[in-house]
Amino acid sequence: MDSYPLFKVRVSTPVLSLHAATDELLDRLSGVVRAGKMHAEPSPYDDPISFYEPDPDLRVAKWLRSMWRGRGTVEAEKWRLYFVVMVDGEPIGMQDVWGVEFATFGTVTSFSWLSSDHRGRGYGQEMRTAMLHLAFEGLGAKEATSDAFVDNQGSNAISRNLGYEPNGADWATRQGEPVLLNRWRLTRSTWEKHRRDDIQLHNIEACHAFLPLI
Ligand SMILES: CC(C)(COP(=O)(O)OP(=O)(O)OC[C@H]1O[C@@H](n2cnc3c(N)ncnc32)[C@H](O)[C@@H]1OP(=O)(O)O)[C@@H](O)C(=O)NCCC(=O)NCCS
Repeated sequence: MDSYPLFKVRVSTPVLSLHAATDELLDRLSGVVRAGKMHAEPSPYDDPISFYEPDPDLRVAKWLRSMWRGRGTVEAEKWRLYFVVMVDGEPIGMQDVWGVEFATFGTVTSFSWLSSDHRGRGYGQEMRTAMLHLAFEGLGAKEATSDAFVDNQGSNAISRNLGYEPNGADWATRQGEPVLLNRWRLTRSTWEKHRRDDIQLHNIEACHAFLPLI
């Protein structure tokens, strides 16, 4: 779609790429959501989220609507970019990034999931790394935050491996039950120490033209 340049933004690493989540790519990924392959045990998702909807068709519809709402919210307080993770031309999950009062604090945070049949091969860490490159190198972020339920070993390991520091705890509900979240914070200076030189950013100028970054 030529008339929405944010759909042209892409981040590529030697093993995967993050493609702006167009409707065409979301449609290709929807089978994974319909099949329930975004689930994990213990469940990593805090409420509310479309992924807990038991009816597969309704789950896909709610999932799409949440992204359409997110795309359409482009405010100084919050904007969000949704990316489909592509490996060998196939969509295998999502990696989002959003600004939190970005013009004031330079803070981004993120959310991601992988299809259950593609986990445990390093893609989760690689896609978070790609997102951080976009945020720090491409958008000029000052810090990145993350949070994950204390029993989400994968997400917490990725934050630790990439240099995020513990930043306290918080409560959230998981299908109505209170569970503690670990909060993490990665500063720009720590990211610079881990910075990679094999990640390419494409069409980043669209972010500067169409997001309230300053
Ligand atoms: C979290 C997620 C994206 C991680 O992706 P992944 O490709 O499986 O993870 P990786 O292979 O890159 O592993 C990264 C690190 O996490 C560790 N890890 C991943 N899954 C783990 C698990 N289930 N138990 C323990 N450690 C795990 C790996 O050992 C590795 O750490 P190491 O290098 O120190 O050994 C993926 O598991 C997922 O989609 N989970 C469900 C959704 C989710 O939790 N999203 C985050 C919400 S906050």
